Amino acid sequence: MTRSRTTDEVTLALLGAGFVADFYMQALAYVPHQRVVAVYSRTEERAQAFAKKWNIPRATDRLDDLIQLDGVDLYVVGLPTFRHQDVCLRLAEAGRSLLCTKPLGRTAAEARTMLEAVRARGVRHGYLETEVFTPALVRAKELVDRGAIGEVVMVKSREAHFGSHSPYNWDPELAGGGPLLLLGSHNVEFSRFMLDKPRAVEVFAWTGTLVHQTPLEDTAVMLIRFDGGKMAQVEVNWITRHGLDLRNEITGREGTIYTDITGATGIRAFALRDAGYVLEKAPATTGWIQPVAEEPFTYGYVGHLKHFVDALRTGAPFAETFEDGYVVNAIIDAGYRSARSGRWEPVESS
Ligand SMILES: NC(=O)c1ccc[n+]([C@@H]2O[C@H](COP(=O)([O-])OP(=O)(O)OC[C@H]3O[C@@H](n4cnc5c(N)ncnc54)[C@H](OP(=O)(O)O)[C@@H]3O)[C@@H](O)[C@H]2O)c1
Repeated sequence: MTRSRTTDEVTLALLGAGFVADFYMQALAYVPHQRVVAVYSRTEERAQAFAKKWNIPRATDRLDDLIQLDGVDLYVVGLPTFRHQDVCLRLAEAGRSLLCTKPLGRTAAEARTMLEAVRARGVRHGYLETEVFTPALVRAKELVDRGAIGEVVMVKSREAHFGSHSPYNWDPELAGGGPLLLLGSHNVEFSRFMLDKPRAVEVFAWTGTLVHQTPLEDTAVMLIRFDGGKMAQVEVNWITRHGLDLRNEITGREGTIYTDITGATGIRAFALRDAGYVLEKAPATTGWIQPVAEEPFTYGYVGHLKHFVDALRTGAPFAETFEDGYVVNAIIDAGYRSARSGRWEPVESS
């Protein structure tokens, strides 16, 4: 049954104890009216260590026990993408409401299966896309919505760093794709968000492997043509040396908005001694550095988790759902087809 009841406090169970799970916990510290009651990892030790670090009362390596646990309002899936389908199907089958991180699937087929499962069971489903909750980009959308730059006709969206920290993301079978999928999912959804989610018609993409020794692409550019002729350009790579690079350009008929989330952070330093953690995927901790203040806010982690917790509490709709995740996968699938064929390819989503 779809939940629409209101509740004072949302109880969460976290699936995953890795990189993104850590960001979720940092962010949840700023989200009122919620409590994380359990965490799952493949190994008991890692689950226990994560629970201890974040003061979570229950830790387990038994997924089925967690899925059956009484008193959990919402499951947060922060597992590697190749585990999303299986875990989300099991949660949906058990009638549990869930949020799943990006990309929803490795392919549109996987995402479609997940979407059908949550629809069939009537559970609430949220797509954990951070980019559209990034404070600077929320502000940009406010400018667009008040008509400040006129009708938006083109969105350029870039994300880059020097490659995934997770070994399985360099295995084509497990990862499902390189940066076009793993980073581009953010840029595609941000572009859809800025354009008010028109139907994506067709896609043209180029992928290449320029620096890394990998069967995956490490660089990609993709054009998306939407209904009515509006365009998006997605530029992603794993060849950028200086850490996470997030930039956007939103062009309307009467103005343009530029955002630079990690390049204009308001702090720049020259350090001869080790500066410690600087920003996500920073390769250096000395010399000229540009730390990011409050990463969980700046990257949208606080914004999206607050949105989903509030929406579940009040019965409001989720702004990002498995439907969005599925469309994103369908656009990226068309991108990979186009990179192979050298032609514009239709977006096959239903
Ligand atoms: N901005 C964002 O929204 C954002 C940012 C980063 C990542 N993500 C997404 O979050 C998901 C997880 O990414 P991550 O960076 O957190 O990954 P991660 O750090 O590699 O680990 C995530 C979890 O998966 C488990 N795991 C690691 N290798 C595994 C394997 N071979 N088989 C099964 N489980 C394995 C980890 O270990 P244990 O089971 O041992 O604990 C951990 O609990 C991905 O879908 C990624 O795209 C989203």
